[in-house]
Amino acid sequence: MTTASGPDSVIAVTTGTGVGGRLRSPEAETEMTGVLGFGGYVPDRVMTNADWAEVVDTTDEWITTRTGIKERRFAADDEATLDLAAHAAERAMQDAGIGPADIGEIIVATDTPEVYTPDTASFLQHRLGCGNVPAYDLGGSGCAGFVQGLDVARARIAFAPRNVLVVGVELISRLISWKERETCVLFGDGAGAVVLGPDAGHAELLDVVAGTDGSMTGILTLSTGGTRDPFTIETAKSGAHQHLEMNGREVFKQAVTRMSAAVLEVLDRVDRSVADVALVVPHQANKRIIDAVTRRLGVDDGVTFVNVDYFGNTGSASVPLGLWQAREQGRVANGDLVILTAFGAGFHWAAAAIQF
Ligand code: ACO
Repeated sequence: MTTASGPDSVIAVTTGTGVGGRLRSPEAETEMTGVLGFGGYVPDRVMTNADWAEVVDTTDEWITTRTGIKERRFAADDEATLDLAAHAAERAMQDAGIGPADIGEIIVATDTPEVYTPDTASFLQHRLGCGNVPAYDLGGSGCAGFVQGLDVARARIAFAPRNVLVVGVELISRLISWKERETCVLFGDGAGAVVLGPDAGHAELLDVVAGTDGSMTGILTLSTGGTRDPFTIETAKSGAHQHLEMNGREVFKQAVTRMSAAVLEVLDRVDRSVADVALVVPHQANKRIIDAVTRRLGVDDGVTFVNVDYFGNTGSASVPLGLWQAREQGRVANGDLVILTAFGAGFHWAAAAIQF
């Protein structure tokens, strides 16, 4: 189903205010980026550490002490990335009290798309029944993709007011090797979403910071399948297309340094301090990374949100999933300042400040 009225009127505004190279109209600019709705979804199937110990040479003790992960969710055989994304998006729209015709743009952050091309956002636009609005993926941005998406969305809203659906989704279990114990035990599947818009909602997105160090592309990469090293029958036989190369210790170090610094930077930009923060929702890669960031920031353990123990690392879904859960669990009240922070392959990092 494709509806025309709402989104088309948004496109009319967009065209008139400068997207496509024209100058911006000052009247169209807005200072406010509201967070109108939150959504999240994880599949039902639970994969415990004991389950993994039957597949690769590992133990619950090794995984728990090194990562804090006890279990993670894996998609059902008949689920794919779009299904996860659609569930989270529908919950976010419901929370915002809006329908698909009210969505003016869609951004999907994922490294595990529905198909190779076109992007998952195109499938999602159709599945949700949104109008023919701009929709695109932030692909390959690793686990930082969702927070980067918030940065893009708020700029688009400031440029021409519209509601932007931002989704972080991963179905990692289907695309990486189940034979490599160094990486396979770390990940889980899931999706999270928010609707941002120019109106006051449940909260206001105050600011976002983001950065990239491209000299670090080699510390976390799935390099087979692109133009540098195309997918062939040999790669399929060797399993190279599923081999996630990871320098675990370097990733660990970069993650702690970059996430902590990004939090301080975004706080500085909104004129607030660590003492003002009610909740930090960091990317959930590893409990030891989260603990190190907590210590570095000097906040109490209870201020940092953790779900890596039962969801594992859900990539670009982890921050919006955590944010949705924190709100569902009553961990966020009106007046609270919430900080999101993430890192990902690239090497990318980002942080956002949200005022409830
Ligand atoms: N079970 C049992 N043993 C294992 C497993 C496993 N699943 N995986 C690796 N090992 C073994 C290795 O073979 C190695 O054995 P060896 O010493 O005989 O050679 C040993 O464990 C490695 O142990 P450590 O070096 O002590 O492991 P470390 O404490 O560095 O922990 C880990 C490894 C968990 C990967 C850690 O480095 C880490 O968390 N790094 C960050 C990685 C991360 O978060 N990646 C995120 C991915 S994407 C993203 O979120 C952006």
